[in-house]
Amino acid sequence: MPLLPLPVLLSHARDNGYAVGYFESWDSYSFEAVLDAARAEKAPVIVGFGATMLADPWLDDRGIPFLGAMGRTILEGCDVPVSFLLNETHTLEQAIRGIECGFNAVMIDSHRWPVDKARDAVATLVQVAHASGVAVEAEFGSLPDYVGGRIADEYSYMTDPDEARQFVADTDVDCLAVAVGNVHLLTAGTASIDLTRLQQIDAAVDVPLAIHGGTGFPPEDVAAAIGSGVAKFNVGTRLKKAFLEAVMANAGSWSGQESVHDLVGSHKDTDFLEAGKAAVTDSVRALIRLYGGSNRAADLRTGARA
Ligand code: 13P
Repeated sequence: MPLLPLPVLLSHARDNGYAVGYFESWDSYSFEAVLDAARAEKAPVIVGFGATMLADPWLDDRGIPFLGAMGRTILEGCDVPVSFLLNETHTLEQAIRGIECGFNAVMIDSHRWPVDKARDAVATLVQVAHASGVAVEAEFGSLPDYVGGRIADEYSYMTDPDEARQFVADTDVDCLAVAVGNVHLLTAGTASIDLTRLQQIDAAVDVPLAIHGGTGFPPEDVAAAIGSGVAKFNVGTRLKKAFLEAVMANAGSWSGQESVHDLVGSHKDTDFLEAGKAAVTDSVRALIRLYGGSNRAADLRTGARA
């Protein structure tokens, strides 16, 4: 199984002028869809699950072991270089559980925490994770969410380059997610990106940068962002939307007579969820091409430069 450390994927991307996508899954269909796209594009990819949208009682009971075991099982048949991320946990304990359950990269959703609390939790996580060969991403700065038709930016703030340098030095994180105008969950239009700030952050810190809110990130700014240290884009909302639209379009053809067993969860051509999966694969392929990741898998495996 070509499960590679996240820093290996991200350094290769930085050295070769492209970015790796983290395409967030929520079940086996979406997870396999991302891998199908990576295989078709011969691209390295970051697969995984995000805790943000998941209920804590489920996560704290059996959610994290379940997601870890399912992901690792599917990855056994995988032939492209991947990292396996448990993204944006609500607590330090959940991220540590992710390490125990087979993820090789973890991240706490600490961007709304007081800086001291976030720094201490991330530093502790790094110590635990690095002892097991697991990478840690952290976010410094706070993204607004797009909710109810507006950008809710009351609690958001952009990343300050000097403070980011200090945060990286204090925590030893492997990858830093930044707030430079990017917006989480944005489905109406695109965000306005402060590329000058991004360059300043890149000059201040020596780790690869990540952009969350990939759905609303302007495609025309992708190349400039990659030129300013971005090695990872996170995409979520766009994929779930593509999945839901395809499932609904196909489910509309159900007359009520066809066997529900063929239509839901059968993994046959008749399965509505397979239509959702195909839509996710198409979206991910387009984004891999946008980020310049196509045909990078082989030289990443051999360590060659493109
Ligand atoms: P979007 O849902 O806006 O694409 O953002 C996903 C993300 O940043 C997950 O960490």
